[in-house]
Amino acid sequence: MLEAFPVLTHLYDAGTARLEGGTVVERRLSQLRGCFADEAAYEAALAQADTLLYRVTAIEPATGLGDLHYGLGVLFPGKVGNEYFLTKGHLHRTREAAEVYIGLTGQGMMLLEDETTGESRLERLGEGKIVYVPGHTAHRTMNTGSEPLTYFGVYPANAGHDYGAIAERNFLKVLVDENGQPVLKDRTAM
Ligand code: F6R
Ligand code: MN
Repeated sequence: MLEAFPVLTHLYDAGTARLEGGTVVERRLSQLRGCFADEAAYEAALAQADTLLYRVTAIEPATGLGDLHYGLGVLFPGKVGNEYFLTKGHLHRTREAAEVYIGLTGQGMMLLEDETTGESRLERLGEGKIVYVPGHTAHRTMNTGSEPLTYFGVYPANAGHDYGAIAERNFLKVLVDENGQPVLKDRTAM
């Protein structure tokens, strides 16, 4: 008898980022200490509630050469001071590993920072938008809308996640709400 092809299919709920058979990671405000530029606003928000900021469900079917991993994310709307809710952000441990993000619902932005040059780019992420994240690029997602931002990301199985490097020096730019508009600022100008 022929072996079955290793085909995986999943049911998913974009609204909650629940993906059948996946590993769920949830991040609350208390786990993002140091990510927001306005530390006083962060402490004040945390004193109110340890709010759930986002949830990612990841599927890692295999770890061989050419295999892919993928995840469904939901980042809830809200702000700390005037900074939009955001993900921790990371580089891939295998720096060459790229990633494709597909926006499913809501409105947000991705902050991309080239590790080598320090150059920043801001790309819209939301329904109908795909963002290619090249290798050697730190990436963080922000929800700039009033609805949950949901997205799907696909990356090489050997990508791995390095949170330490970016946590140490932080992203050079910060996305803030100024009169209802997202504005990118230098962290040092905050
Ligand atoms: C995977 C990836 C996304 C993020 C998700 C949460 O490589 O980029 O699935 O994991 O947006 O962000 P982090 O991982 O930075 O907490
Ligand atoms: Mn990634």
